[in-house]
Amino acid sequence: MSELLKYVPGLADVPVAESAISSIDGKRARLAYRGIAAETLARESTFEETAYLLLKGKLPTQKELSDFDQQLREHRRIKYRLVELLKCLPESGHPMSAMQAGVAALCMLYPVRTVTDPRLNWESVINLLAKLPTIVAAFHRLRNGDEALRPRNDLSHAANFYWMLTEMEPTPAIIRVLDAALILHAEHSMNASTFSARVTASTLADPYTVVCSAIGTLTGPLHGGANEEVLDMFDEIGTPDKARSWLENAVATKRKIMGFGHRVYKVKDPRATALQELAENVFAEIGRPPQYDLALELEKAALTILGPKGIYPNVDYFSGIIYQSLGIPRDLFTPIFAIARTAGWLAHWLEQLKNNRIFRPEQIYVGPTDVPYVPLEERR
Ligand code: COA
Repeated sequence: MSELLKYVPGLADVPVAESAISSIDGKRARLAYRGIAAETLARESTFEETAYLLLKGKLPTQKELSDFDQQLREHRRIKYRLVELLKCLPESGHPMSAMQAGVAALCMLYPVRTVTDPRLNWESVINLLAKLPTIVAAFHRLRNGDEALRPRNDLSHAANFYWMLTEMEPTPAIIRVLDAALILHAEHSMNASTFSARVTASTLADPYTVVCSAIGTLTGPLHGGANEEVLDMFDEIGTPDKARSWLENAVATKRKIMGFGHRVYKVKDPRATALQELAENVFAEIGRPPQYDLALELEKAALTILGPKGIYPNVDYFSGIIYQSLGIPRDLFTPIFAIARTAGWLAHWLEQLKNNRIFRPEQIYVGPTDVPYVPLEERR
């Protein structure tokens, strides 16, 4: 049977699900959530509204949105024992690991014995969306020796997260750019972490475990971890005048340029374009960070060097510069991605449950066969 199968590395172009959640046109730089352009949502919508759209399949009415928003606000607080657990984690550990630990603890604090009850499933959705920002912010403050701040019910999802991290109220421009970043990271069809979520979902595991699997998959530098590495790369390059020669050398030595390239987009990622636009608005208010000029110079050089191969900036290229300019430390960039993508992961969880069959792909065995067992004393 194996001889008839064709192995496709990375499952490139192999459909693994039918999904009505988001669609990408990689040639025309289009990303749509439930048919609505993601850039339009980034400009016009809020994370709460976009999460509702992804999860429920349609934009909410005013009443539906305020009910959903209210539920999220009411469930932001985390239990005292969870805060105690976060206090025990090594402060030098990565916040993505703290997030996984926090979600595993949520799974124990809010046990889910069945995934067949829509009401219980919705409670888990609210819990995860509402509490993940609190877990990340609490871990961050505790590792710095500060008290974890209580979430504020009078602030939006994005504004409250910024408050819990910094103890400062964000300006409208900061809220806008954070909201847009959350919206643009909320969903992206069958990427590695979403696939991971769907595989775990297909075993009928509880939603906390589904999100835990996805968080783990997101940590890798080829996926969510790239946004941190983009800034490490800017540090290494130093100044805009060194961008071209650095890039030429990196390409000659076959290095991967972080924040560039995408399996699906062969043009500039529409999320990068939308984020860049909003970044410029916020930079006009808080000042233009030096890395931004370097990023523009590197992008210009890459246009002629990588552009012909269809390699352009992806979403991670500008997100880190924005977060850093807001005073957010580098190792929180991927957790912010996870906070946003939880909406997409959970939408995929619910979709997978509607028509579930456990994932069990095939492999092509390439090892030896009929190998005799050699007793230990006869082995050399
Ligand atoms: N820098 C330099 N070359 C790159 C590149 C990059 N960022 N991304 C792809 N390429 C090149 C590869 O070296 C390869 O060249 P080759 O055919 O001469 O060997 C070709 O483009 C195809 O790359 P491949 O790694 O097979 O593409 P992929 O679809 O498997 O990988 C990514 C997609 C995102 C993993 C890849 O572009 C990458 O590693 N990017 C950097 C990490 C990053 O920014 N990730 C965030 C994604 S949102």
